Amino acid sequence: EKDGYDWFMRKEIFEQPRAVADALLGRHTASGQLQLDEVRLSDQELRDIDKIIIVGCGTAAYAALVAKYAIEHWCRIPCEVELSHEFRYRDPILTRNTLVVAMSQSGETADTLMALRHARTQGSKVLAICNTNGSTIPRESDAVIYTHAGPEIGVASTKGFLTQLVACYLLGLYLAQVRGTKFGDEITSVVHEIAAMPAHLERVLAGADDIYALARDFVDARTVLFLGRHAGYPVALEGALKLKELAYLHAEGFAAGELKHGPIALIEEGLPVFCVVPPRGRDQLHDKMVSAIQEIRARGAHTIVLAEEDDDEVAPYADRLIRLPKVPTLLQPVVATVPLQLFACELATLLGHDVDQPRNLAKSVTVE
Ligand code: F6R
Repeated sequence: EKDGYDWFMRKEIFEQPRAVADALLGRHTASGQLQLDEVRLSDQELRDIDKIIIVGCGTAAYAALVAKYAIEHWCRIPCEVELSHEFRYRDPILTRNTLVVAMSQSGETADTLMALRHARTQGSKVLAICNTNGSTIPRESDAVIYTHAGPEIGVASTKGFLTQLVACYLLGLYLAQVRGTKFGDEITSVVHEIAAMPAHLERVLAGADDIYALARDFVDARTVLFLGRHAGYPVALEGALKLKELAYLHAEGFAAGELKHGPIALIEEGLPVFCVVPPRGRDQLHDKMVSAIQEIRARGAHTIVLAEEDDDEVAPYADRLIRLPKVPTLLQPVVATVPLQLFACELATLLGHDVDQPRNLAKSVTVE
C-alpha cells in the first residue's frame, strides 16, 4: 500500500533511489562493460543503424529528448524525437537501418503502439523501453529494455521517468560500446556516475521540506514558468507538465535561449520562474543560463534556481536556491527533476486536489 505516505505519487517519488538502482542492476560488469542481452539485435544490426527515432507521449517524450542529447553525443547517430501521435501521419522516412525506440511506462499507450506498428510495416527495427512486463508494446517490438521501476500507481509518472532516463543512458552507452564511438574507460566512467545516482537522489530527497515550504509560498501562483537548456530543457518541460496535471495550474517550460524570441514578454513582477542551471563545464551553457536568469530577474521575476551545490556564480541571482549534487550535464535530469516532482505533488496537495487521480486523466491512454 502507501507505506504511510498520503499519496502513491509521494511514495513513488521517494522510491526513486531504489528504482534507479534496480534499473541499472545486472546491466554492467564491475569494470563498467555494458551487458544488455535483452537488446536482441546482433552487433552487425546495431552497427548498421543510421538513424534513431524515439517515439513517446507526455513524460515519456521528455525522457526521449534527454536520450537524443545523450545518444547523439555518445554514438554520433542522428536521433530524432517524435510525439507518437504525430509520427505516422507525416509519412516519416523509415528504412531497415532505422531504429525506432518506443518509450512507454505502461506499455499500453495506443498512440505509441500505432507508431511502432507503422515503423514495423516499413521494415524498421523497434526497441521498446517499458516498465510493464508483458504489456502490448514490448510484445510487439523486436527487443525491449525494461526499466524495472516497479509498479507505478500514481497517474503522474515519477519513477517511471527517472528509470526511462537510465534505460536511455544504457542504450546510448551500449551502442557506443558496440560501435566503438567511445573508449571503454569513458563508458566505464559514465556507468560509475549513473551508479552514484541513488546516493545523490537520497540527498535531494532529504531536502524535501525546503521544497514543501516553497510550495506553501507559491500556493496562490496563477502561472509558473520553467527554464532550462540542453538536458535541462526537457526537465523544464517535465516540471511544467507535472504542475499542469496535478495542480491544474498554467505552467510552461521553455528552452532558456528561446526567451528573448518572445516569452520574455510574459515576465512580470513576482512571477515564479524555475531555472535549471547546467553544471559548469567547458562549454558556455552555464554562463548563458546565468545571463538569462539575470535578465528575467531584472524584470521582476522571482527566480527559483536549481544549480550545482557549489555554484557561487548563480547564487546572487537566485531568490530561492535548490542545491543539486554535482553530476555530468547529460545525467543532471535525474537529480534536477525530483524537486519539481515534489513541488507539484505538494502544491496539488495544498490545493486539495487528488494527486493520484487528477481530473480527466487516466494512467494509461489506450485510445488514440
Ligand atoms: C505524465 C504522464 C503522461 C505519460 C504519457 C505516456 O505524468 O504520466 O504524460 O507519460 O501518457 O504514458 P506511457 O509512458 O505509459 O506511454
